[in-house]
Amino acid sequence: MSLQKKEGQLGLGVLGLGEGRSIISAGVRSDMWQVVSLCDRNEELCRERCREFSLSNYTLNYGEMLENSAIDVIGIYTPDHLHADHVIQALEAGKHVVCTKPFIDNLERAQDVLNAVERSGCKVLVGQSSRFFAPFKRQREHYVAEDFGELVSIESYYHADHRWFLEKEWARNDAFKWLYGAISHPGDLVRWYLPEIEEVYGYAHLSKNGRDLGLKHPDTFHYVLKGANGVPARVSGTYSCPVVPTCRDSNMSCILRCDNGTSQADYYDLRYAYKLNGISSMETFEDMDDYYFRFGGHSHHAGEYQSYIEYIAQCIQNNEHPTPDAREGIVTVAVMQAMEEASKTGNPVRIATLLERYGLEGLISG
Ligand SMILES: NC(=O)c1ccc[n+]([C@@H]2O[C@H](COP(=O)([O-])OP(=O)(O)OC[C@H]3O[C@@H](n4cnc5c(N)ncnc54)[C@H](O)[C@@H]3O)[C@@H](O)[C@H]2O)c1
Repeated sequence: MSLQKKEGQLGLGVLGLGEGRSIISAGVRSDMWQVVSLCDRNEELCRERCREFSLSNYTLNYGEMLENSAIDVIGIYTPDHLHADHVIQALEAGKHVVCTKPFIDNLERAQDVLNAVERSGCKVLVGQSSRFFAPFKRQREHYVAEDFGELVSIESYYHADHRWFLEKEWARNDAFKWLYGAISHPGDLVRWYLPEIEEVYGYAHLSKNGRDLGLKHPDTFHYVLKGANGVPARVSGTYSCPVVPTCRDSNMSCILRCDNGTSQADYYDLRYAYKLNGISSMETFEDMDDYYFRFGGHSHHAGEYQSYIEYIAQCIQNNEHPTPDAREGIVTVAVMQAMEEASKTGNPVRIATLLERYGLEGLISG
């Protein structure tokens, strides 16, 4: 495949070629993008991805990829604890960034990341993929377009039997936490509707299955959140045990309860149901299954990445601000860190107090 960008195209460099496979697939299918180079420290994987997508350019050295002037945007898909460094390096090289969730995995480096964003003037999109999945997109658009009334409560959860994930060496390291890697999905969905979370409380547990497989941190979570406007929300997830059959549950869901209506967006089977002004309805996006899940099974969901790289391409071309951005991503990380502290201490944790500890109080207004 030629590395020549056509007029108006953006050059993409992809770092981390496990989940990075999805953004490569999105890039090669989009007229807005040219996939210029791949990078992973695993050379066999670099070769495999080049073969899979008929690409020729890869490097084992991230610094070398950052020097490539044909690359405008770096997609970052390395293990969670490396994101802060990789984001900062990309910004310092003058590249726009798409970084998968969790944006970072604690607040220690948050100010460094924000400083790098500020200095670079580049755009950052946090790849909160669920926001770009049809049922969740539809729920959001519907909520904005129709008069559902005031929000009464939100429930969001993400349950998955992710024991297979623990075969990855970094997943059994002390740095790996499902709280950031997975609760970032329902946590972000709640923040989409309730951006200002005031306080968090809840419990976390490391199950026997997780312990037996060498997991170091909890795999089971139930939290309640209080919005600054008083609206309560609930976030849950379990990652080392079987899930409820899809005919009864969707593994990931977001339920909005409002004065005039209620809606539920379901990951499986790409469903959206609502009741508005007394009328119930259900929509399905099942016909998009092949668009979202391109590699067989349901473990890579490239359609979400297709939606978000085309979205950030438009933002770059029109000089618009993409969301969720670095600031929003960092407050979501603060919510997860508050969850972690609440379950360790047995006390509710205020987001403002936590942000103040890191000098980040400017990220929230109240
Ligand atoms: N829905 C989603 O958005 C979604 C889904 C799955 C994973 N993810 C995220 O994607 C990231 C990667 O997860 P994964 O499942 O692909 O893990 P993975 O272990 O399969 O892939 C990570 C890759 O990064 C490479 N790597 C690590 N350090 C590197 C370095 N310094 N330079 C170059 N390459 C390096 C590894 O060799 C590996 O191939 C994680 O942050 C995870 O949370 C997001």
